[in-house]
Amino acid sequence: MAFNLKGRSLLTLKDYSPEEITFLLELSHQVKRERRAGNLTQRFLGKTLALLFEKRSTRTRCAFETAFGEEGGHPVFLSSSDIQLGAKESIEDTARVLGRMFDAIQFRGFKQEMVEALAEYSGVPVYNGLTDLYHPTQILADLMTVQEVFGRLKGIKLVYAGDGRNNVARSLLIGCTKLGTDYTVIAPETLQPDRETVALCREYAKQSGSKIEVTTDVAKGVKDANVLYTDVWVSMGEEEKSKERLEMLRPYQVDEKMMAATGKNDTIFMHCLPAVKGNEVTFEVIESTASKVWDEAENRKHTIKAVMLATI
Ligand code: CP
Ligand code: NVA
Repeated sequence: MAFNLKGRSLLTLKDYSPEEITFLLELSHQVKRERRAGNLTQRFLGKTLALLFEKRSTRTRCAFETAFGEEGGHPVFLSSSDIQLGAKESIEDTARVLGRMFDAIQFRGFKQEMVEALAEYSGVPVYNGLTDLYHPTQILADLMTVQEVFGRLKGIKLVYAGDGRNNVARSLLIGCTKLGTDYTVIAPETLQPDRETVALCREYAKQSGSKIEVTTDVAKGVKDANVLYTDVWVSMGEEEKSKERLEMLRPYQVDEKMMAATGKNDTIFMHCLPAVKGNEVTFEVIESTASKVWDEAENRKHTIKAVMLATI
């Protein structure tokens, strides 16, 4: 079913209904098929997109730039050393100026308030390409990848091991519970998802029929996992925590033993990337046939194109 999402921003998946997310995923599969068939139709011809980056990026930047450019649009990359991003000019003023010149804005940075202010003051769709709190476009690619492998999201058990309170883990919790995927976090107590998000997602889970489990127990948590997911132990901006995280998270490394402990022979491994091999995942697991990380990375582009097609 098609939904009219024109003019909508994507700041967090909390703002999208399960039906709207499902529609974006269907559009993503369509866009991927079209690209495979060489069927590009210049749907962004004459359009402009501002790409604001306070933090580094490979996948997100390249996904937005190539998806927009190959459909005839003109993306403009602007790092925080290029423009005033709250430095000499308020973010509200920057937003109003960009809104006069661009058809949409992507922001990657630290504070969620920045991306929210851009959306409020620019008057054009704004996409959150990662903040300290959320990474919604990543989760669309993850859900798309799970659909490709298993043909469904409902009844699938996705287990996240590691820093369970970071932007990716929090956004996965939201996305999975909205769409009926069981979500387990295995993490030490201090790195488990915040209570407020868990309480909110319990409400989503009631509607979708998914289950949430938060545990420190690796063996209990991984049992029957269809998907084992991890992310870096130290997110961008938290570098001073490196030593403590490495010590704390060592028991939560995804290795072959953890993959085997699922008790299934078709469990897949996922990671948003970039990965620090030898920390959150071993070389053997990420390079194994169970690893879907390259499909997942490619799907960033298709899902991001779908979001832009739906909203611009
Ligand atoms: N997964 C992800 O967001 O990758 P980048 O940091 O390279 O954009
Ligand atoms: N949690 C990671 C995700 C990188 C895509 C970070 O914020 O650095």
